[in-house]
Amino acid sequence: MAGTLVIGAQWGDEGKGKITDFLAKDADIVVRFQGGNNAGHTVVVNGKKMKLHQLPSGVIYGKKAMMGAGMVIDPKVLVDEIASLGKKNPDLVIDPRMHVIMPWHKELDTAEEEEGDTDSNGNEGGGSDGKIGTTKRGIGPCYADRAARSGVRFEDLINDKRLQARIEEILPIKAKTLEHVYNKKPGFTSGAVFEEYCLLGKKLLEYVGDVSLEVSEALDAGKNVLFEGAQGTFLDIDFGTYPYVTSSHPISGGAAVGVGIPAAKLNRVIAIVKAYTTRVGNGPFPAELEGKQAEELREKGGEFGTTTGRPRRVGWLDLCMLRTSHRINGFTELAITKLDVLSGIKPLKVAVEYEMSGKRFRYFPYSSRSVEKSKIIYAEFAGFDLEKGKKYEKVSDLPKGAQEYLEFIEHEVGVPIKIISTGAERGETIINN
Ligand code: IMP
Repeated sequence: MAGTLVIGAQWGDEGKGKITDFLAKDADIVVRFQGGNNAGHTVVVNGKKMKLHQLPSGVIYGKKAMMGAGMVIDPKVLVDEIASLGKKNPDLVIDPRMHVIMPWHKELDTAEEEEGDTDSNGNEGGGSDGKIGTTKRGIGPCYADRAARSGVRFEDLINDKRLQARIEEILPIKAKTLEHVYNKKPGFTSGAVFEEYCLLGKKLLEYVGDVSLEVSEALDAGKNVLFEGAQGTFLDIDFGTYPYVTSSHPISGGAAVGVGIPAAKLNRVIAIVKAYTTRVGNGPFPAELEGKQAEELREKGGEFGTTTGRPRRVGWLDLCMLRTSHRINGFTELAITKLDVLSGIKPLKVAVEYEMSGKRFRYFPYSSRSVEKSKIIYAEFAGFDLEKGKKYEKVSDLPKGAQEYLEFIEHEVGVPIKIISTGAERGETIINN
């Protein structure tokens, strides 16, 4: 396994959780490298459903779990998540360079979203002009402060004096911004924030460690390290559908930067590809479905957000997205998830090219505006029926229609499909060697 990377190839929610859980059992370390509690990952342990938002999934299997410098951490949520695991504390390492989501980040995220939620006449909730549709977890404002060098790092959280100094320096500016720019009364005071965050820092102190060093040493010693991506390629701050993106790098390059290791140490890059496409929040979605067909697919696929419960937008599989995703990430293999959800949908469509000003394109345009102007060229497939509950062990066990669909994806993206998920259960997975 060595350095194995799991990357969302679309807009997140590709079903990375199931594949990561599947791979975690062979890993010595599972490390997250970007994002924060905007991610959501449901795991069933001893019949109990658990939602992980920040902890790498490896903690469930008692594996060493690490949170790299490229993540942002909400310490309140993390303390609760650790408590939800049960009595035994996880074998967890948190990089001290990581930035902390402070109360003002969450309030600013909400205020910015509300500000954007006006139509051109200024009516609230009237349209999506300017509104990203974030998870309101403070992710964007926290990453913005990291870049502006006005953030609070985990190393500050666990040191009383440094925490106090950072709060005194930063909080008054954030309070003024909320009051005078957004017309909101800040819900925090410096004394209360210090008291609360100081205590959180003490609770998390035992986990501090240099993730860059530990992961490097583990890889050099031939250990298996699983790098768990959150969100997806088209939510990348640079290569996604800007501005409708998250504020981190969910692409393969993000793993090297977010952990602090050379990119060359990542030798297996697994693309998690949902058999169709979904997106939460606003922004372009060329192969989107609407009306009854969309509702059916959403219900069948259980397409409601793990973090916010929002209904996800749904659409056909898009090969322009997948070719672009491969170009950016350098996939060594594809894992196709939720193939079973397409069972019975006839015919099936796949976006193969975009047409703009009379020209055909095989890749996703760099500009969200061009995406909106494109006409989509589809290929059509007869579709297939999978037997509910049947354990398909090999690709050749699948109906011909499903095989055709998979072969087409493999051929068009130019990357072999090595894993196919035909249901939520662990056993409903084909390993295609
Ligand atoms: P933020 O990450 O909360 O700033 O949200 C920015 C955009 O990314 C919004 O469209 C969110 O819906 C989307 N997003 C963030 N995290 C996830 C995720 O884990 N899955 C899918 N979409 C996400």
